[in-house]
Amino acid sequence: MKDLLKGKRGVIFGALDERSIAWKVAEFCVEQGAHITLTNAPVALRFGQVTELAAKLDAELIPADATSLEDLENLFTKSMEILGGPLDFVLHSIGMSVNIRKKREYTDLNYEWMKKTYDVSAMSFHKMMQVLYKLDAMNEWGSILALSYIAAQRVFPDYNEMAESKALLESYARSFGYHFGEKKKVRVNTISQSPTVTTAGSGVKGFGRFFEYADKMSPLGNATAEDCARYCAVMFSDLTRMVTMQNLYHDGGFSMMGLNPAVFDLICDEDE
Ligand SMILES: NC(=O)c1ccc[n+]([C@@H]2O[C@H](COP(=O)([O-])OP(=O)(O)OC[C@H]3O[C@@H](n4cnc5c(N)ncnc54)[C@H](O)[C@@H]3O)[C@@H](O)[C@H]2O)c1
Repeated sequence: MKDLLKGKRGVIFGALDERSIAWKVAEFCVEQGAHITLTNAPVALRFGQVTELAAKLDAELIPADATSLEDLENLFTKSMEILGGPLDFVLHSIGMSVNIRKKREYTDLNYEWMKKTYDVSAMSFHKMMQVLYKLDAMNEWGSILALSYIAAQRVFPDYNEMAESKALLESYARSFGYHFGEKKKVRVNTISQSPTVTTAGSGVKGFGRFFEYADKMSPLGNATAEDCARYCAVMFSDLTRMVTMQNLYHDGGFSMMGLNPAVFDLICDEDE
């Protein structure tokens, strides 16, 4: 596979360190011929390694708190200047739960923190799209993606308030997908990814056991961050121009499974 994204311009949110899904997406998109800018919250620029990635990919790094409309306007305006025109693709790869960070149980949540969680993890997606829409910053047949998780549809108790964040995120993809499709033939989708070992992922209680369970349950095993990068690139390419307003499972088959006997190995003795 070569030049899948040749000549395309994109903005990638959320590369924090080498494990980040966005990190792998950025690397693969550039490998496939795209020109990109990278962005993350100012605090992540101080503590993460994204400046290294920017240097490696020869990409401009523009700080933006994804909850700030002003920052988003600056980001997209500058990105169009740097890349030489409107954008062909944007990746939202952002998630953070204050209640999870503070180890609050789902039955004892702090609502001010919950608002912050929704703002960072979901409303930022709407804000991003609204700014792109108003600035007319997307090219026709462009592609916008956000990363989601199956807890939007099914109950995974330790995923806590992030479940509702993802449900909201997926709903924004459908609703804004209508408006962007009508206006500019721009498609908007979410990719529902397998558990992946990253900073955000590992913050969820019991992540290690949970990762292993999903891996056993899925006939293909868990999809890695590298696999996800390849799927994102296909969704940014011209090969998927008519796919929009979808939540696309990228999970090795997990979402369709009822029971996989392989899971018994994790919980039962062999002769039971
Ligand atoms: N890791 C998993 O198991 C998994 C599974 C499914 C979906 N996802 C989703 O993938 C996405 C990327 O997460 P990841 O697993 O690569 O973890 P990660 O921790 O590497 O990435 C999360 C990113 O969000 C950024 N961020 C937080 N607050 C921000 C703000 N206010 N403005 C801008 N950026 C901000 C962080 O700096 C970080 O770069 C998230 O939406 C996450 O929910 C992850």
